Amino acid sequence: MFLVTGATGGIGRRVVRLLRQQKMPVRAFVRLTSHYSELEHREAEIFIGDLRQEKDIHKACQGIQYIISTHGSARDTLAVDYRANIELIDQAKANGVQHFVFISVLGADRDYEDATVFKAKKAVEKYLATSGLNYTIFRPSGLASNLLPLAESFRETGLYLLIGDRKNRTSIVSTDDLAKMVVDSINITAAQNQIFPVGGPEVLMREDIPQIFGRVFNKEPIIINPPLFLLDGLRSGLGLFNREEQQALGTFRTLLAHEFFCTPEEIANLESIFGFKLETLENFLRHYLAV
Ligand SMILES: NC(=O)c1ccc[n+]([C@@H]2O[C@H](COP(=O)([O-])OP(=O)(O)OC[C@H]3O[C@@H](n4cnc5c(N)ncnc54)[C@H](OP(=O)(O)O)[C@@H]3O)[C@@H](O)[C@H]2O)c1
Repeated sequence: MFLVTGATGGIGRRVVRLLRQQKMPVRAFVRLTSHYSELEHREAEIFIGDLRQEKDIHKACQGIQYIISTHGSARDTLAVDYRANIELIDQAKANGVQHFVFISVLGADRDYEDATVFKAKKAVEKYLATSGLNYTIFRPSGLASNLLPLAESFRETGLYLLIGDRKNRTSIVSTDDLAKMVVDSINITAAQNQIFPVGGPEVLMREDIPQIFGRVFNKEPIIINPPLFLLDGLRSGLGLFNREEQQALGTFRTLLAHEFFCTPEEIANLESIFGFKLETLENFLRHYLAV
C-alpha cells in the first residue's frame, strides 16, 4: 500500500493517477475541505485527516509500504512542511516502510535565510537521508501545473505579471514528467538514496514564459514588470499586522530574486536514469489547454 500526501495537489493527484493506472493500492491523505472526488473515482482509499495532527499521521501510516510526500503549504511551513514530514519519516521507520519519496525544492541546499519553505525542505532532506530508510528526493524548479491558472488568465487578457529581473533563468518541469519519475523511482536502482535536481529540458529566461503563452494562444503578450523593491515595500507594510503573510512572502521573494534552473548535464542524467525524454513547457501547456 502506498501513502500519498498532498494527494489533491498538482504533483500528488498525478502520482495517485499513475499508481492507480498500474492497479497499485493507494491511500490518499486528504483534508475534508479538499476536492478529492477524482481520487475516489480512481478507487484510491481516502484517508481524511490533517497533517498538522500527529495522530492522523500515525493512523494513515498503518500497513503502509511506500510513502510519497508531496504536500506543501506556503503559510503553515513549520507544521506542514517541516513537522509533518519529520513525523512521516518517524512513522515510516516504525512501520518498516520500504521506500520514502520526498518532494523538496531546487535550491534547498542554498541556505536562503529569508525563505522558510527552503529551510524546512533542507532540514527534512537531512533527516530523511540519515534515517536509514530507502529514499529518493526530488528538487524541482517550477512546476508547469502552477502556470495553468496564469495561462488561463493570459488567454482572457493577454497580460502577464513578471516581478523582478526578466532575464533570471528558470527551468519549468512538466508536472506529468515529475509524477512519472516519482512513481518510477521506487523500482529503479539508480534512483535509490539519491537527490535529483529536476527541471524541464530547456533553460528559460523568465521573460520567455509570456512569449510561450503568446505562441500557445496566438496573442502578443503585454508584460507588466514591476521591480522587486515594490514587493519589499508591500512586505514591510504587511509585517506590521500579519507576520505569517510576511514570512510566506519571504519564500516568494526568494523565488523571484534568484535563478532556479537545471544544467543540461542534470537533465541528461534524469533522462538517462528514468529512460524518457522530458517534455517542454510549451508541450505541457498545449496538452492541458487543448490548443
Ligand atoms: N509549485 C511549485 O512550483 C513547486 C516548486 C518546487 C517544489 N514544490 C514542492 O512540491 C510539492 C507539491 O507542490 P504542488 O504545487 O503539487 O502543491 P499544491 O498543488 O499546492 O498542493 C499542496 C497539497 O498539500 C495539501 N496540504 C496542505 N496542507 C495540508 C494539511 N494541513 N493537511 C493535509 N494536506 C495538506 C493540500 O491539500 P488541500 O487540497 O486540502 O489544500 C494539497 O493537496 C510541495 O512540497 C512544494 O513545496 C513546488
